Amino acid sequence: MLKRKDLLGLRDCSAEEIYEILDTAAEMKKLLKSGDKSSGLLKGKSLVTLFYENSTRTRSSFELAAKYLGASEVNISVATSSVQKGETLIDTGETLDAMQIDYVVIRHPMAGAPALLAKHVKASVLNGGDGMHEHPTQALLDMYTMRESKGKIKGLKVAVLGDIKHSRVALSNLFGLTKLGAEVHIYAPSTMIPKEIGALGACIAKSREEAVDGADVVMGLRIQLERQHGGLFPSLSEYAKFYGVNGEVLSHAKKDAIVLHPGPVNRGVELTPQIIDGEKSLILEQVTNGVAVRMALLKLLGEWRGVNL
Ligand code: CP
Repeated sequence: MLKRKDLLGLRDCSAEEIYEILDTAAEMKKLLKSGDKSSGLLKGKSLVTLFYENSTRTRSSFELAAKYLGASEVNISVATSSVQKGETLIDTGETLDAMQIDYVVIRHPMAGAPALLAKHVKASVLNGGDGMHEHPTQALLDMYTMRESKGKIKGLKVAVLGDIKHSRVALSNLFGLTKLGAEVHIYAPSTMIPKEIGALGACIAKSREEAVDGADVVMGLRIQLERQHGGLFPSLSEYAKFYGVNGEVLSHAKKDAIVLHPGPVNRGVELTPQIIDGEKSLILEQVTNGVAVRMALLKLLGEWRGVNL
């Protein structure tokens, strides 16, 4: 059981809590891979997804996780909701709360929006990504995938290449991985590396090869064009040539290294298509694990709610 109502980020999660989530996700993956995915664990509970930004993986995997555990789920499409009439986030949250929901998953362009919502609703709030801040469930599924493949997190060298500055995935992974004892090595154009990242525990490499050298895990990150104002690199083709991961760059990693990417991928920019579709790539396994991790979070936060409501 997690001793918290909400999951807002990994910065304030302990290593024990992260391991509890990963262990529970392993149980959930067995259910997910079994022929009959139905469980009545969360029968009578309800989940709302409230996404102010686009999503394929996060939103649908939360909705499927809720369904597989027997909860009902509803999506609020912000584009066609009363948000367009000027309703505030807090009013929207209080309105949903009044419908007796148990969980709300929110994605919002503003860092801190999930924390603000959590202060005003009784439902458990799960952060599905807030601005350039955190995306904790993505980092949890990334760590799950690493542990499942490598048998451990502690002592792994994880190379993260791409748009670190605008990536909430990078920040949540940095918080989670360093708590569990992994080394995080990053490389990107200097315009895409935030100044404070070294103080948070990342090793900043001088080249792609240095970042990837001897790595157990190579993670590409999407260029977050929607959060940039341009001018951070000359062109996509030059980004791919000088900062992307290709076969030559990957050859510097350990022979049994795995390749991850949170998706969606810009094919041929962050990673070559050969790597995306190659034998080292666990990108689709990450998607499967995303459902298991989100099932685990609904279970663990549900237990907290069962005890405290
Ligand atoms: N990785 C991730 O957050 O993907 P979506 O934007 O599709 O949810």
